[in-house]
Amino acid sequence: MTPTATAAAHSTTAALAVEDVTVRFSGLTALDGVSFTVEPGSVHAVIGPNGAGKSTCFNVLSGVYRATSGHVRLGDTELTGLPPHTIAGLGVARTFQNLALPPHATVADSLLLGRHRLTRSGFLATGLRLPSAAREERRHRERVREIAEFIGLDEELERPAGSLPYGQQKLVELGRALCMEPKVLLLDEPIAGMTADERRRTAAVVADVRDSLGISIVLVEHDMGVVMRLADAVTVLDFGRRIAGGAPAEVQNDPAVVQAYLGAPQ
Ligand SMILES: Nc1ncnc2c1ncn2[C@@H]1O[C@H](COP(=O)(O)OP(=O)(O)OP(=O)(O)O)[C@@H](O)[C@H]1O
Ligand SMILES: [Mg+2]
Repeated sequence: MTPTATAAAHSTTAALAVEDVTVRFSGLTALDGVSFTVEPGSVHAVIGPNGAGKSTCFNVLSGVYRATSGHVRLGDTELTGLPPHTIAGLGVARTFQNLALPPHATVADSLLLGRHRLTRSGFLATGLRLPSAAREERRHRERVREIAEFIGLDEELERPAGSLPYGQQKLVELGRALCMEPKVLLLDEPIAGMTADERRRTAAVVADVRDSLGISIVLVEHDMGVVMRLADAVTVLDFGRRIAGGAPAEVQNDPAVVQAYLGAPQ
């Protein structure tokens, strides 16, 4: 499942540091002085009850929301306040909670979209008239094929992405993010709505992204079984505050976490 050629292009030594981030929306504090560090090449889960601030956190990391105060850094690079496309260009890619694939495009073309920022000649726009553009497109299509193999969809490259089962469409979305050659991948509920079989397969791909490509993953996921199996570290949010953090087993037995999930004082 893992073509060796894919490993070298990736891997990072940069930690993603979230430092004292606060986000306020007219009167409501969605994140309140939250700090955590995503270690290079690790899966870091962000969990918590509904409304805890998980998606807000993602939106700050990807530049969709601007933090009221605090910092986000990737290695030495300050990401705070940068627009989403710049953050993506610096190596932080995301998938969305809801599917965002062009319905009629083939799997190959959907993946190719992820390579747009890496293209020099803009082959999608120039209509491939120049030999150099054709060469570049060939190179990108080869990379798309490698990534399709990596996510187990190389047989489906010429099918319309919209005709695939839901679980495979979500994998295409993950593949498209991988096509950006990210250092950090933000996955917002990547297995929500999947069958048990699709969940297993996607969880295996996520583990493989970390293990074979060395990409750091920030994972928001409600399925605690998957979080506990996949994550190297967990940050727990409740009402916008970080109430616990650490290894999955530690966090699972933390009284504050148990209380937040049961919603009742002990
Ligand atoms: N753009 C916004 N404007 C105003 N309030 C917002 C906005 N985005 C989020 N909020 C509020 O911030 C709080 C945190 O929301 P957020 O979506 O981050 O929670 P979550 O942990 O992702 O929840 P869920 O598990 O339900 O997805 C909520 O009270 C929410 O209503
Ligand atoms: Mg959310």
